[in-house]
Amino acid sequence: MSMQNIYDNERFFENFKSLRANEINFNDCVETPIMTEMLPDLRGKTVLDLGCGMGQHARQYADMGAASVLGIDISEKMLAYAREHNAADNVEYRRIAMEDAGTLAGTFDVATSSLAFDYVENLGRLMRDIYALLNDGGFLVFSTSHPLATAWDGVYDRYTRDENGVRLYANLRSYALEGLRRVNWVVDGYELYHRTFSTFINDIVGAGFVIEECREATVPEELMSAHEDVFGGLVHKPEFIFFRCRKPKK
Ligand SMILES: C[S@@+](CC[C@H](N)C(=O)[O-])C[C@H]1O[C@@H](n2cnc3c(N)ncnc32)[C@H](O)[C@@H]1O
Repeated sequence: MSMQNIYDNERFFENFKSLRANEINFNDCVETPIMTEMLPDLRGKTVLDLGCGMGQHARQYADMGAASVLGIDISEKMLAYAREHNAADNVEYRRIAMEDAGTLAGTFDVATSSLAFDYVENLGRLMRDIYALLNDGGFLVFSTSHPLATAWDGVYDRYTRDENGVRLYANLRSYALEGLRRVNWVVDGYELYHRTFSTFINDIVGAGFVIEECREATVPEELMSAHEDVFGGLVHKPEFIFFRCRKPKK
């Protein structure tokens, strides 16, 4: 099993940090608002945030009233940032790979993950591990790159554009070929896993979850018209997909 830790690469880390520091970025303008709308009431709940990165979400969940938040991530650099900038008494950050989530002691009311499952090869196993970590009636709410986005294999341009650079349509290739994609993005050899939409559904349901809601990335009209250069591609291709899953009550 390959497990890349690209966020500890100095260049990648600095680039990611500056992307996220832009006021107009995909995390704050697209991912977080949708994710937040899909969360259950977190007041008094124990939360596990997988692939917590720099801790913005963990801190947000504590601010939303969670009793405790455990953020796990594979990257020391991301965790160091989280501990420095997004600390709270009831938030803990631990260096644990998502692939090892099954070794965590205890159970949680809510598991969350934002844009991190792309890096996990075996989604079915991860779903079963998270299911086992949740209390009955618990939730898993996550975002990840959309299958139409991860299909990109780096060989062709993501969009066909007119002579002014305006995106005419998204290019799609090799969608049916699941597995590792190694592309050049910020650094050479950036790795993520592509899976089809049906694999997502079957891995989630196969673990025992009920899917309560599924959404795809959009931005409000005002943001789209003000920042068409940044978000215009979302009209053709939803970069992210979101699921709210429930572990049924016994
Ligand atoms: C795109 S960032 C998202 C961070 C954060 N959830 C957010 O929304 O800002 C992906 C994160 O997943 C982490 N990651 C990648 N592979 C991992 C693995 N196998 N186990 C745990 N974390 C991993 C990275 O280190 C990085 O912090």
